[in-house]
Amino acid sequence: MTRLVVVGSINMDLVTVAQRFPAPGETLLGERFLSVHGGKGANQAVAAARFGAEVHMVGAVGDDDFAQPLREALAAEGVDIEHVARIKDCSSGTASITVASGENQIVVVPGANAHVTPSHITRAQDLIAGADTVLVQMEIPLEAVEATLRMAHHKHVPVILNPAPAQRLPVEWLKLARYITPNQHELATLLGADPNDDFRDLMRRAPCPVVLTRGVEGAWFREGGEPQHQSGFNVEAVDSTGAGDTFNAALAVFLHEGLPLAVRKACAAAALSVTRLGARGGMPHPAEVDALLARQHS
Ligand code: RIB
Ligand code: NA
Repeated sequence: MTRLVVVGSINMDLVTVAQRFPAPGETLLGERFLSVHGGKGANQAVAAARFGAEVHMVGAVGDDDFAQPLREALAAEGVDIEHVARIKDCSSGTASITVASGENQIVVVPGANAHVTPSHITRAQDLIAGADTVLVQMEIPLEAVEATLRMAHHKHVPVILNPAPAQRLPVEWLKLARYITPNQHELATLLGADPNDDFRDLMRRAPCPVVLTRGVEGAWFREGGEPQHQSGFNVEAVDSTGAGDTFNAALAVFLHEGLPLAVRKACAAAALSVTRLGARGGMPHPAEVDALLARQHS
């Protein structure tokens, strides 16, 4: 069983479904509202648990009404929450999400996620040392991201950095990652490059192996040499929120099967995740991924 440590954010997603996005200053009548559990870190933890991994979450919630449900939702999926801190006098992370025609717009308020510090990473060092893989994203302070990269590297544990949301990072940090998993925009931002540059050139310029997501076009991966392509899987898109999280979790869990197969499974898993509303709605179990792979040879 793959042992994963996920360091990252935990949010309550406040999701409004509408026909289209409102213009600035405009009030629209929406179709539906739901609050669901989200946050890039927690989503990746849950997706990995559904794939059968042993998952330990390192993160934080506040002391508001969302805190306990957020912790319970993780525990209910079998994720270990011993290293999920409770921050006093603080709100839990929230994401106000509008979904229209399968696309989304998101405003995240970090709340407790902003209080994940390098000391939390130090406290989790034995867990990290015993992990097969560490996963980290950028919805927590960058000091904590750096501490995670350094700790994993120091313990010789491969770490996957999902550089979302987009921010620029020092090149030395990227060298600590086994893989980075950006989309084109995130990779350009990460490297301080022009977002209109050819994504394959951007991949060649990264100082570490890259798995680049391309939405419906699937993914590209490069470990040195030329970037290689994995096609996307055709599905009816309902909500793309959390597709990247599902992708990252699958990549981490199936990495031991070799990079090409792990990327293929990650593309299939991400495609399945967009067929249901909510970041964790549609996150598949391995049998569903295998069924999609069998249906669509690509
Ligand atoms: O990646 C999707 C997640 O990003 C959502 O669940 C939301 O919480 C935002 O953080
Ligand atoms: Na979904």
